Amino acid sequence: MTELLHPSDFREAMSLLSAAVNVVTTDGAHGRYGLTASAVCSVTDAPPTVLVCVNRKSAAHAALVGNGCACINILPGDREDIAKEFAGLTSLPHERRFANGIWEKSPAGLPVLRNALASLEGEIREGKPVGSHTVLFIEVRSLRMRADGDGLAYFSRAFHRIERSVLASNASC
Ligand SMILES: Cc1cc2nc3c(=O)[nH]c(=O)nc-3n(C[C@H](O)[C@H](O)[C@H](O)COP(=O)(O)O)c2cc1C
Repeated sequence: MTELLHPSDFREAMSLLSAAVNVVTTDGAHGRYGLTASAVCSVTDAPPTVLVCVNRKSAAHAALVGNGCACINILPGDREDIAKEFAGLTSLPHERRFANGIWEKSPAGLPVLRNALASLEGEIREGKPVGSHTVLFIEVRSLRMRADGDGLAYFSRAFHRIERSVLASNASC
């Protein structure tokens, strides 16, 4: 283990932290935006809270903070294309990103991806700036989820499809 901590070493180590891939969306007076985010984590179930770390330079940041609400769409294994578009890795302009996939409006008016593994919608209760990012704490008000579908993970700077085990999805305990 190396003693000297260099930012590039830190980023290299973090590339080995496999993570689910999500598109975090918002809509409201500050506009409709979405960004691909893997820095999403469950915080507590009482009240049900997730955190998302969002770079303040991303176009979605001001809209998320201004609208005060967000929906975390956990991508299924076959939607790497959507992950790339919402990460700005394709030539697709911002306003066309919601053209791919079926995006529905939740009762609260947020973009929900129809085939997401799960979509968790809620209010941003707090935002804590840390370095280049803001850690947004989102209290989840409603969710929907699928009983099937593979997962999508990001590991070692590449997307990987994670097979959902039939046993796990049929388990009753
Ligand atoms: C797999 C993956 C995970 C990412 N995770 C995050 C994240 O957690 N937070 C973040 O701010 N940006 C993350 N990004 C980068 C943003 O998706 C990207 O910078 C942003 O959407 C740029 O687009 P913009 O044109 O909307 O600003 C991630 C990118 C990829 C490919």
